[in-house]
Amino acid sequence: EHGAGRLSSLPSLQEKKIFAVQGPYPIIRHLLRARGWVERKLSRHGRQLKQQQLEKRASGGGDEREAALKPRGGAQPFPGTSEPLHHPRPRDTENEGGREDEDHNEDEEQCSEDSDDIHDLMSYLVQDQVPNFLWTIRLSHIDQKLLPRIEVVNRYPRLSALCTKEGLCQSLQNLLWFEQVDFNTFFPRCYRLGLDEEEAFIGEPGAAPSCHLPMSCAELARARCFPLAEDFRLTAARSLLKLALQKVGDSPVGTEQPPKSDGMPGDDRVSQPMPSTAGPCSPLHPQLVEEALEVCEQHLGVLGHRDIDRKTPSPCRTCIDWDRFLQEYYRVAHQGSRLVLSTEQREQCQDLLRRLEEKLPQLRIEGDLNVWILKPSAKSRGRGEAAGSAGGAHARREGIPPSLCCPGIVCATRLEEVLELARTCRDPAARVCEWVVQKYVERPLTIFNTKFDIRQWFLVTDWKPLTVWFYRDCYLRFCSQSFSLCHLEPARHLCNVSIQKRYRTLQPDPRVPPDKIWSNEQFQSHLAQLGRADAWQQVMVPGMKAAILNALRCARDRVGSRKGNFELFGADFLIGEDFQPWLLEINSCPTMSPSAAVTRRLCANVQRDTLRLVLDRKDNPGCSIGAFELLYREVGWGLGTATAQAPRAPAAFCVSLQAPVSSCLTVGRKLMVTGCSLKKP
Ligand SMILES: Nc1ncnc2c1ncn2[C@@H]1O[C@H](COP(=O)(O)OP(=O)(O)O)[C@@H](O)[C@H]1O
Ligand SMILES: [Mg+2]
Repeated sequence: EHGAGRLSSLPSLQEKKIFAVQGPYPIIRHLLRARGWVERKLSRHGRQLKQQQLEKRASGGGDEREAALKPRGGAQPFPGTSEPLHHPRPRDTENEGGREDEDHNEDEEQCSEDSDDIHDLMSYLVQDQVPNFLWTIRLSHIDQKLLPRIEVVNRYPRLSALCTKEGLCQSLQNLLWFEQVDFNTFFPRCYRLGLDEEEAFIGEPGAAPSCHLPMSCAELARARCFPLAEDFRLTAARSLLKLALQKVGDSPVGTEQPPKSDGMPGDDRVSQPMPSTAGPCSPLHPQLVEEALEVCEQHLGVLGHRDIDRKTPSPCRTCIDWDRFLQEYYRVAHQGSRLVLSTEQREQCQDLLRRLEEKLPQLRIEGDLNVWILKPSAKSRGRGEAAGSAGGAHARREGIPPSLCCPGIVCATRLEEVLELARTCRDPAARVCEWVVQKYVERPLTIFNTKFDIRQWFLVTDWKPLTVWFYRDCYLRFCSQSFSLCHLEPARHLCNVSIQKRYRTLQPDPRVPPDKIWSNEQFQSHLAQLGRADAWQQVMVPGMKAAILNALRCARDRVGSRKGNFELFGADFLIGEDFQPWLLEINSCPTMSPSAAVTRRLCANVQRDTLRLVLDRKDNPGCSIGAFELLYREVGWGLGTATAQAPRAPAAFCVSLQAPVSSCLTVGRKLMVTGCSLKKP
């Protein structure tokens, strides 16, 4: 009691610098204590024993406060306050509207509490105080009455428009209202499964103009437009042209060599037994290449809006039997069937692909295998549960039949596989999760022939006006096995730490780091060795900044904002062969779990710098904010005066971002009509 009396007179208690931490953030706790702040500890089931011991020691009994510490099925309200800080609820990312980053289970397990009794005692003394600062892994774990009274919180509510895959896809569709930028230049096109197909299109309108696409007459009769299927078919037609240019054989045009029994050396083809309308040795349709050429020409017409003119033949008149076309495409792509081109066809193919490339920014991430990636929308780290992997257990626990359980991220090369998932998603009994289907980046930049992605942090300190801070440091996550489109398993294609730690590094190039993590500095030295030292500052960083900012501007009217709050986000980027970054997703609450020496250092730094930025700068505007730099601060918001000039990638982007940038969302887009007048006939 003597100790308690002394403690309650501590200056920090009088100054009410009280914080609360919920989740695996020992560094945040340590840094705040180092600032002289006092923690109001959260009740957790695992700490009940410790609390009981403390009760015995701290009070002789009869003290009112004892009730507050008594664990009766979780935290109890403090007498005089009704504010249990820990508010046990089922895990529900939907309520928060965002999704957790990977490794949170691991994070929570690693949560180590400081066992220093003095802190327990101080916490006990401030149990009836509203914390000034809260750093939590989940808002839904905090008492909803208390939450609004906490001055500074590290999370924003309702982030699904930004932090679910489906939400981000939808938000980015609004980009044209803000910026004259096509989101297809930085975000692989994406479709939502399990919804009415008419609604499901959330990708590139140019790539899949739903009502003007070549479909077989029979199909048109029996199916409504299905943008994903159309996009898949058009991509297959383009891919066929590429294959035709590569797969030169000796046979006459439109016939094939017998399929290879074993893969040709150096030919990384996906080989999957799939039903084919034609037998293995049956000849390909003599018009296969001509069909692909015609379809692509018509697609170009649609992209150039030539279909508005009624004299232009409607692509819908292309009565291709798409089922047959795709089966034959699969044979060429996956089973080694060869095509032979006449000189004229060869030139036509080259010319068409060149013209398509001008219209389709994503042609440069497409290979020739038409790979797509299927992702559960609100999950992370490749979850649900990979078919045949650890995941089945989860389904059984939840009472969900394994057949209906999210199988986790998978890659698909056949439309049938995607449509089967779509069919399952439409079944009300199977609505375990939403799915998105995204174009797979078939031509990523690899390092030592190994795929990697980039985790890039940024911080939002205000939504209105939008204020964003970019973190100059980031890290790379490598896969465990070498990249190959011949094998589409997670070890080669999903860079998540939590997935890759399941795999041993097989046939590794010894230069791939054993812990599968690199810092951006290591990456930059590697680029310098490639003779592309410039690519980081001139292409990748500006591209990542622009993508982040574009995503935020699109989502900001649909997210929950609260003055005083802030949030650290983790964006995932893939780098294309041409060094262009592609945004994959944005995670709220990025993992701070130190999986490797590099992440141990960088995660500690980003937490330190975040506290400097959101706390220290208030009292001392000149204080260091470490590796954070102001990416964007909107001025003139709500005034309707400024001209929209959001920075965009690449080039001058970095420079212009150093200063606050004007923007007015209502006049973001220059609208104009061009044309010429026509005389009345
Ligand atoms: N469109 C894509 N093309 C290529 N690889 C992808 C694509 N989308 C995701 N990936 C790979 O899958 C991993 C996980 O995808 P992501 O969208 O980040 O989902 P999550 O991390 O929530 O499981 C990424 O790190 C990347 O390696
Ligand atoms: Mg991810």
